[in-house]
Amino acid sequence: MPETTPKGLTRLAFGGDYNPEQWPETVWQEDVRLMREAGVTMVSVGIFSWALLEPSPGAYDFGWLDRLLDLLHENGIRADLGTPTVAPPAWFYRAHPEALPVTADGTRYEFGSRGAICHSNADYRAAAANITTRLATRYAEHPALALWHVHNEYGVPVSACYCESCAAHFRRWLTDTYGTIDALNEAWGTAFWGQRYAGFDQINPPRLTPTVGNPGQALDHKRFADATMRENFVAERDILHRLAPGIPVTTNFMTALSQCDSVDYWAWGREVDLVTNDHYLITDGRRTHVNLAMAADLTRSVASGAPWLLLEHSTSGVNWQPHNPAKAPGQMARNSLAHVARGSEGAMFFQWRQSRRGAEKFHSSMLPHGGTDTRVWREVVELGSSVDSLRSIRGTRTRADVAVLWDWQSWWAQNLQWRPSEDHDPRERADAFYEALYDRHLTVDFAHPEADLSAYPLVVVPALYLMTEAAGNNLEEYVENGGTLVVSYFSGIVDEHDAVHDGPYPGALRDVLGLTVEEFSPLLKDDRIRVTGPDGSELTGDVWSEFVVPRGAETVWTYADGLTAGHPAVTRHRFGEGSAWYVSTRLTAQGLDALLGRAADDARIAPRADLPRDVEVVCRTGESGTFLFAVNHTALDTKVPLDAHGTELLTGERAAGQVSVPAGAVRVVRLDG
Ligand code: GAL
Repeated sequence: MPETTPKGLTRLAFGGDYNPEQWPETVWQEDVRLMREAGVTMVSVGIFSWALLEPSPGAYDFGWLDRLLDLLHENGIRADLGTPTVAPPAWFYRAHPEALPVTADGTRYEFGSRGAICHSNADYRAAAANITTRLATRYAEHPALALWHVHNEYGVPVSACYCESCAAHFRRWLTDTYGTIDALNEAWGTAFWGQRYAGFDQINPPRLTPTVGNPGQALDHKRFADATMRENFVAERDILHRLAPGIPVTTNFMTALSQCDSVDYWAWGREVDLVTNDHYLITDGRRTHVNLAMAADLTRSVASGAPWLLLEHSTSGVNWQPHNPAKAPGQMARNSLAHVARGSEGAMFFQWRQSRRGAEKFHSSMLPHGGTDTRVWREVVELGSSVDSLRSIRGTRTRADVAVLWDWQSWWAQNLQWRPSEDHDPRERADAFYEALYDRHLTVDFAHPEADLSAYPLVVVPALYLMTEAAGNNLEEYVENGGTLVVSYFSGIVDEHDAVHDGPYPGALRDVLGLTVEEFSPLLKDDRIRVTGPDGSELTGDVWSEFVVPRGAETVWTYADGLTAGHPAVTRHRFGEGSAWYVSTRLTAQGLDALLGRAADDARIAPRADLPRDVEVVCRTGESGTFLFAVNHTALDTKVPLDAHGTELLTGERAAGQVSVPAGAVRVVRLDG
């Protein structure tokens, strides 16, 4: 079994990406001195260093990295060492220009940024394997080495390549997947528009076409592109495992749905030894702490509930959004500890020392341009000490109350062209249901639709357009055995090939939901629809409505106007020992809360009326105890009730019956017992 925790790291991880090659070596001494002052325990190095390590083909310079790793070791700082394969040197592209990726319209990217890689390219694969082998051979035994950091954020900025070499690789992948061309023709429905293929050699990647292309081809190409990146990760990982046994291997994910949409992290989570994640606040006017919690929960879920590590976030503003506000005082610590609450074994940043040159010089860092006499630096030092006081939580796991189903492949399928409404966005529904659960103070695990759900009293399906028969059966079994299910509209419609399930909608779910949907009736932009309940309650929907025909389900809310007036809008179906709810319009936050309130009653989940909005309470538990995290995102001091006594780890104070959490602060109580 490969190691899953960074070797030799006895505390939580605290530190960041460290790019000392941007500075004269004299600065390194100051770096490590300040790292010690801040309580840094680990740094990520060498991620973009290929051009320095191999300045010309076959000529290597490891001297500077030797000195750097020695210096880190002498100062008790662990190294997360990158394989620099996200940034091949200029000489490599001169020799192999076809390793630059090509877009769907045939444009080839140029050298001069990063991540310009065709993952099918044999020369790239050979060069990546070579530099990885050199690094592993040289540093396997280095005492500073804690973790391998392969590549950087697979899937961004380039998610797929459409070149000739990818076309050949795609054909091989399709041959392996389908075996015969007849099977492919059937799966892709090529009888439509005369798209039939007589052999695999006739197939290309879904390049630019005059109008909408074949959806099965587009979906498989996404799967292929994801699998191809994963092949390259696995190739590097296997070299590292072979040459440096005992050192865990990771690659940094970007699970936030707004930050990467091209990687199936369920599959990737099974390949890494330790799940690590990068998370940046998107300042689009929404509640950033809710998006953060969602990304952290999703990361923990792709790690199957095991501890994971936040490998990058920002101390303050980033530099790549249209507007990049600084973080408010205290926000950095709150963000960091909110990740820790949800399973991260520390908090790392991009980056240690702010660059003076290059594209990211206006991105915040732990050590800003302004030096140590700055608010950011003071907060970094304070956070280092807070993180250190939480070291006893290592290895504990976050406890979840409910599950939300999520599937990247279903998302890809749903986002293909020519759907009933371009305003229906599955990610928006996932965000909205998550936010509604967050506001009910429920901790969420995400789950794959075919996963075992028996541990959860309530399972929510925000939007799962693509659902296999196996997933449908899984949900049936879950409800039959007593679970409570909530399903949002346009779920369970197509199979894994984007072919509509046989019979009335929603094919994969109609039995468990006890209904059929005769027709979708999407609304025009800005149209609203009223929905009324038997108790006189009125909710509002937009974007979508449906002609729902109950076939065993009871109607709970009914459309009061629009084309679907008089038809059920929200239904509930007793099925086996459990119940299944269905909502056929896009409810507002208030509507979702009303629906989830009813479903939570079925699931016997008591409401938490004792916690104010935006005060987050999350528990981690394990051999070293139970730890209650209370994160106060509000501007008011608050008190969080405790049903036990304990010790608050950041202040050392005793807490009995309740813990005071000042405005904007975090408290972590280790419960007695
Ligand atoms: C990450 C990336 C880092 C840095 C950072 C800036 O996505 O891994 O190298 O660019 O963004 O926010």
